[in-house]
Amino acid sequence: MTQYHRSSGKHCVEFRHSGARRWLMMLRTAFYIVDRGASGEETKEPDGVGPSSSKAPPEPWTYSEDLSTAFARAQSTMHECYGGRTQETGHKTLGHICVTEEDKRSASESHGSLLYGELLPRGVNKALDGRHLDAQRASCLFDLGMGTGKVAMQAFLQFPNLKRVYGVELSLARYKVAERACLKLASTDARALAVHSHAPGTSIAVKNVATQQILHVVHGNLMQTRDIERANIIMLETEIPSDAFSEFSVLLDAARDGARVLTYLDLRKVWQLPGQPFPFRQLEANRSFADRYPTSWSVHRGHHLFLWVKVLKPGPAGAQHASGQRAADRAADRESDRRASRGGPGDHHPTHASISTLAFNASPSLAHGGAHGSKTAPARKSNRAAAAPSWADDLACAQKWPALVSRSSKKPSSSHSTCVIA
Ligand SMILES: C[S@@+](CC[C@H](N)C(=O)[O-])C[C@H]1O[C@@H](n2cnc3c(N)ncnc32)[C@H](O)[C@@H]1O
Repeated sequence: MTQYHRSSGKHCVEFRHSGARRWLMMLRTAFYIVDRGASGEETKEPDGVGPSSSKAPPEPWTYSEDLSTAFARAQSTMHECYGGRTQETGHKTLGHICVTEEDKRSASESHGSLLYGELLPRGVNKALDGRHLDAQRASCLFDLGMGTGKVAMQAFLQFPNLKRVYGVELSLARYKVAERACLKLASTDARALAVHSHAPGTSIAVKNVATQQILHVVHGNLMQTRDIERANIIMLETEIPSDAFSEFSVLLDAARDGARVLTYLDLRKVWQLPGQPFPFRQLEANRSFADRYPTSWSVHRGHHLFLWVKVLKPGPAGAQHASGQRAADRAADRESDRRASRGGPGDHHPTHASISTLAFNASPSLAHGGAHGSKTAPARKSNRAAAAPSWADDLACAQKWPALVSRSSKKPSSSHSTCVIA
């Protein structure tokens, strides 16, 4: 820190590694120290009151939390991708204020909720640690209701073992924030990161060629997630209206056994599959209400989110959901082949063989009629929101969607702080 500007309250900070100089509001800035170097000069205490001083009682300066280098580096990259907005708090975050009238109209038509708030980076870090969702040992994470995509991007950057990170968002405006951040991400490291596929306003995938990871975010309705059984981790920090509980239960029933799930709602109160046992067990570390996660609306105290492990394989409802998807996939393949053989434009989506080599799901169609029509999941009124496109769609950039989304009575509000790497 080299200078202080009295009237703005900002400090000038010089970053030795890059030579950059920036004026920062230090009260709102979190620094993650990646490398302290060998120097013993650094101290937080004013002269004479450090731990070596006999007069000074030891101050509770230290709080301990596992913030890895991977976390800090991920935050540094995200700081760039989100233009310094990675730790927004309150009710006027970009995710709150970007929502349009069209978003609200579409969400209301598709019975979705635009209720908003974000898990803060430390909240994500805690949720993904070994005692909770255990991202270190997972290969595929879904964020259903990703907002502006920060959780998905943090997971992607922080855990190279996550080969596929997928996020879906109902609000087009929020999706577009995520899309811009992904484009920015691809430009941060041209050697490793590249845009793998992009259908503007619909979906984007960024690939890390060094780690073979893919971050894939789409504009769509989570209820129509096609390949949920692939996920080891499902993030659902998402409000679900009660008239969608049944459809939501069918979707989660299709998740694989062993999958770890984070929910905003208490699944025990949401579950609506008569005749099927409740297939989740709450994680031991999450049984206490003291297990809280820093969020944009509860920065210090944290919000108690629910963490589960799926202990049963998909039941009849979930299996029907998956088979409905497969049927839709086959129909889509046939339709695509038919168009191609006619020499028409076709949608050029990859064949099952090419998709499975890439470990992608193949279905550019609107999926899962099976579950909607099943007895266990009463069909709901027509849902105009388009299905979340699969990876295959993304590769093909094939699908044009009807506009989506929305209802929000929330009045946006608040401040944001900066997170940089020192
Ligand atoms: C509480 S926010 C969480 C955002 C993000 N996971 C985070 O922590 O930063 C929930 C998000 O889910 C989205 N959402 C709600 N219902 C949805 C649906 N049916 N399909 C897709 N997204 C949905 C909302 O628009 C909102 O952006």
